[in-house]
Amino acid sequence: PFVVTDNCIKCKYTDCVEVCPVDCFHEGPNFLVIDPDECIDCTLCEPECPVNAIYPEDDVPAGQEVFVALNADLSKAWPVITVRKDPPADAKDWEGKTDKLPLLER
Ligand code: SF4
Ligand code: F3S
Repeated sequence: PFVVTDNCIKCKYTDCVEVCPVDCFHEGPNFLVIDPDECIDCTLCEPECPVNAIYPEDDVPAGQEVFVALNADLSKAWPVITVRKDPPADAKDWEGKTDKLPLLER
């Protein structure tokens, strides 16, 4: 499956959700995750993310392996999102910032 990683936190552009043919994106307060049990590896979402937050599970950047389990766990708790919405007002300020995991809201 594909995995949403650190770059999405506090950016949450949601461009990714509308292309997913199996509705596997789930929305939290400031981050999205992919349900690994639903993702069919179609690859359509990966190029949609303007901050390149989406990776195949086997290609997650070094140090971000924790996001594999986070996507699996949080997708069970958070609701599905299928329609794009406006990003947070300060999303631009958080683009390219690293190590945002402590800022992840559950
Ligand atoms: Fe959905 Fe395809 Fe992305 Fe998996 S790879 S989350 S199925 S758009
Ligand atoms: Fe996040 Fe990128 Fe989607 S910022 S919400 S993974 S478009």
